[in-house]
Amino acid sequence: MSTSSNVVKKNKEGGLEGIIAGNSEICEVGVGSHGEHSLHYRGYTIEDLASNASFEEVAWLLLRGKLPNKNELATYKEKLRKLRDLPSTCKHILEEIPAHAHMLDVMRTGCSVLGNLEPESKKHDQYAVADRLIACFSSFFLYWYKFHHQKKRADLNSNEDTTAGHILRVLHEKTPNELQKQALNATLILYAEHEFNASTFTVRTIASTLSDFYSAICGGIGALKGPLHGGANEEAIILIQKFMTPEDAENGIKQMLNEKKLVMGFGHRVYKVVDPRSTFVKAWANKLSIDSKDKHLYPIANRIEEVMWDSKHLFPNLDFYSALVFYYLNIPTNMFTPLFATSRISGWSAHLMEQRANNRLIRPLANYIGPSLQKWIPLEKR
Ligand code: ACO
Repeated sequence: MSTSSNVVKKNKEGGLEGIIAGNSEICEVGVGSHGEHSLHYRGYTIEDLASNASFEEVAWLLLRGKLPNKNELATYKEKLRKLRDLPSTCKHILEEIPAHAHMLDVMRTGCSVLGNLEPESKKHDQYAVADRLIACFSSFFLYWYKFHHQKKRADLNSNEDTTAGHILRVLHEKTPNELQKQALNATLILYAEHEFNASTFTVRTIASTLSDFYSAICGGIGALKGPLHGGANEEAIILIQKFMTPEDAENGIKQMLNEKKLVMGFGHRVYKVVDPRSTFVKAWANKLSIDSKDKHLYPIANRIEEVMWDSKHLFPNLDFYSALVFYYLNIPTNMFTPLFATSRISGWSAHLMEQRANNRLIRPLANYIGPSLQKWIPLEKR
C-alpha cells in the first residue's frame, strides 16, 4: 500500500480531480472563488476570439503562440485550403469502412492511414503534420459519409477559405449563408482548446513516450469518443428532441434526476457555476433558432437548463447548446462529435508540440488496493 500523503482514498476523489499535472502556456481555465469563470487561449479571451477571429487564426495562435498578421493569415488559409483533399489510398480505405461505423472510428482510421502515407520526417515536420491534419480532419468523415449515405464521392476541393464554410458547402452542396458560417466558425473556436481535458491529456501521454504524431492524435480521438467527454453533444440533441413541449421536458428531466440518470451536456469537472463557452454558444443557438423560425427546440432546451439549475445547480457545458447550433445547421447528429474533433485537433497538436519541447515521460503511480501477498498454488491443486 502506498504511503504517499496524496493517495486516492475513494472513488469520488479519483479521476485526478484537482491535480495539477504539468505546466502549459497554451490555455488558461480561470476559476475564481466567486464563480467567475474565464477561458483564455495564449492570453486572449474566448469572447474576443469567438467574436472576432476565424478558426484558422485561432489554430495558428495555438500552434505558433502568437496571432498571425494579415499576410500570414491569408497565406495560412490558402495553405489549409490546398491540404483538404485526401490521397486516393485513404479514400479507398474509407470506402471499405462499413456504413454503420461510428464516425470517430472513421476519423481514427483515416488519421492512422495518413500516418502511414505521410509519416512525420525532417521534410514533413510536426508543423506540416499539424497543418495537414487541421486541414483534412473533416475530410475523413465527410468523404466517408457522402460515399456511404449519399452514394457520392465528395469533392473535397471547395473554394471556401474557412473551415466552417468548407464543411457546410461540402455537406450541403450549396453556398452557406454568412450567419451559418459565422455560427459554425465561432463554435469551432470554442471547441479548439481546453487545457488538460481527457483527450488532450491522452495525446500528451502518448507524445511523452516519444511516439509519433499520428499515434498520439489517434489516442486523442479515442478518448474524445466517450459520452462523458466529446460524445455528450450527440446525446444532448437526442435528449432535447425527445420532448414535445417545455412542460414535457420539465417532467422528463425531473424524472431522470429522481432516477439518478445523467443529463448529457450538463456539469463540468473544472467549472462549478458556469461554463464560459456555453454563454456564447447559447447566443448562437438562439440566433439560429430565430433565423430558422424554430419555436420548438430552443424553448425546450431553455426549460431543461432551468430545471437542471433549480434542481441540482448544474449548468450547461459547451456540448449542450452547441448540439442545438449543429442541429440548426442541418448537420447529422452523428457528425457532432467529429466536428468537435475537427476543431480540437488544433489544441491537441499544440499540446503535443509543447509536451515534446520539454518532455518527461508521463508515468504516475497507482495506489495498490489489491490482495496482500498470496502463496502460489500449483495448477492441479486449484
Ligand atoms: N446530470 C445529472 N447529474 C450530474 C451531472 C449530469 N450531467 N453531472 C454531474 N452530476 C451529479 C453527479 O451525479 C454527482 O451527484 P452526487 O454528488 O449526488 O453523486 C454530482 O453531480 C457531481 O458529479 P461528478 O460526477 O462527481 O462530477 P465529475 O467532475 O466527475 O463529472 C462530468 C464531470 C463527467 C462532465 C459530469 O458532469 C457528467 O457526466 N456530465 C454529463 C456528460 C457531459 O456533458 N460531458 C461533457 C463534458 S464537457 C466537454 O467535453 C466539452
